[in-house]
Amino acid sequence: MTENQKFIRSVVRGVGGYLPACVLTNDDLSKRVDTSDEWIQQRTGIKERHIAADGETTSMLGEKAARAALANAGLTPSDIDLVIVATSTPDYTFPSTATQIQAMLGMTHGVAFDLQAVCSGFVFAIATADKFLRSGSHKRALVIGAETFSRIVDWTDRTTCVLFGDGAGAVVLEASEGVGDTTDRGVLTTHLRSDGRHRSKLHVDGGPSATQTVGHLRMEGKEVFRFAVGMVTDVVNDAFAATGLTATDLDWFVPHQANRRIIDMSASKLGIAPEKVIVTVHLHGNTSAASIPLALSAGVADGRIKAGDLVMLEAVGGGFTWGAALVRW
Ligand code: UT7
Repeated sequence: MTENQKFIRSVVRGVGGYLPACVLTNDDLSKRVDTSDEWIQQRTGIKERHIAADGETTSMLGEKAARAALANAGLTPSDIDLVIVATSTPDYTFPSTATQIQAMLGMTHGVAFDLQAVCSGFVFAIATADKFLRSGSHKRALVIGAETFSRIVDWTDRTTCVLFGDGAGAVVLEASEGVGDTTDRGVLTTHLRSDGRHRSKLHVDGGPSATQTVGHLRMEGKEVFRFAVGMVTDVVNDAFAATGLTATDLDWFVPHQANRRIIDMSASKLGIAPEKVIVTVHLHGNTSAASIPLALSAGVADGRIKAGDLVMLEAVGGGFTWGAALVRW
């Protein structure tokens, strides 16, 4: 890089989240399927999750999260020129949930599109937005993770229906000048992976082209668990290797919130102290692409995550897909 060349970073300007009002507890679930609060808490750490009301769609959750993130950033929709929505539970097959949200925000400019990488969707969307901003083509991105998994779980299948919840989270990223080293604020590095050989281990058994139905979520939970920790730690280590930073440099570890045991095992294997891990799975369940921005939103709202903090995001999901993003807040 010559002295006159600018180094663009995607800096987090704001974050926000939204959870539907209805809370479904483990005890509530035990009245629907053969399960118990004790089993769910012991195997997953989940105590309760939020469920969207009838007629409350993914775009409605996403819009609320987007408005919260914009308010947190002190910006308005007119300041945004890129909207990426990570979701596997779109309102419709098309148009995209992103264009729905764009219209709800009153935006007639810029570009909006969906990205689908299941539970890794938010990390994939951050990586994508970062590449747009660093290329110079766009200035400010709304990156939204929004899901209504309650609409695709099989409510008679106790092995999956107890795990998921609905919600949305969003961040505003802004292209800003940095110096090009790890002291910069913004997205420092992103690492994405996928391996479609594992696609049947976590899938939805319907879709427009295959069955002309929406389908239900199916998961070989033990198989997903078996791979999850290794995938997470590999990609987080890739982020450390790319930056020369280590687990001890981290201020916060914000993993995808699927299962408390996966979170704890991953943090332990990576040498990340438990007090640096932001956990929301007990209150939200697995909200897929929304889980990381919701956890970020919680961490910022209660004052844990502050400007300048080094934050590692990571996720693993259906496909398999997995990824990590290292961000200086
Ligand atoms: O976002 C990424 C996607 N997902 C994940 O990361 C999930 C990864 N997997 C997991 O989190 C865990 O595998 C689960 C939480 C899904 C299951 O935990 P597990 O310790 O792997 O349990 P298991 O599947 O081996 O089931 C143990 C027993 C079985 O009974 P038997 O065969 O031992 O008699 C299940 O039938 O627990 C039974 N079981 C339940 N019991 C009460 C399964 N689901 C339930 C339930 N309540 N909800």
